[in-house]
Amino acid sequence: MDAIVLLKEDHKTVEKLFKQFEKAGDDAAQEKRTIADRVIEELTVHAWIEEQLFYPAAREAAPDTKDHVLESIEEHHAVLWMLSELKGMEVSDERFDAKMSVLMENVRHHVEEEEQEWFPEVRKAMGRNELKDLGERMEAAKADAPKADPLAVPSA
Ligand SMILES: [Fe+2]
Ligand SMILES: [Fe+2]
Repeated sequence: MDAIVLLKEDHKTVEKLFKQFEKAGDDAAQEKRTIADRVIEELTVHAWIEEQLFYPAAREAAPDTKDHVLESIEEHHAVLWMLSELKGMEVSDERFDAKMSVLMENVRHHVEEEEQEWFPEVRKAMGRNELKDLGERMEAAKADAPKADPLAVPSA
């Protein structure tokens, strides 16, 4: 699969989970826990494959994306720390919903920048075959990603 298509599919999966979380009632503690745990796993794996493979390849193919990549890494850093806090926090904690809400704002902003501001430059610079080859390596790397440990991603 094309690397950028793969990343956008991940973004959609996460957005669906965010919508589910927003729809869950105030007392749906069990459901919120399940959704939050899936968000933690999806975003940890996603950040991992971006940092291990996509971001370095993007910088090499399109050096002008350097500042976007560096900003993205700092955004990952903040998100990964929030994920690690959510992991250890009870849903009943009065800070839980607020932390999820700030996480969602951060991730939505980050995804919008990736998709609108600099992924198109990477697509132009790489071409179809390189994107496909990179996508295959990213798909395979998902198996090695630290699923339940956000702080094991390099930018954390
Ligand atoms: Fe990212
Ligand atoms: Fe992303």
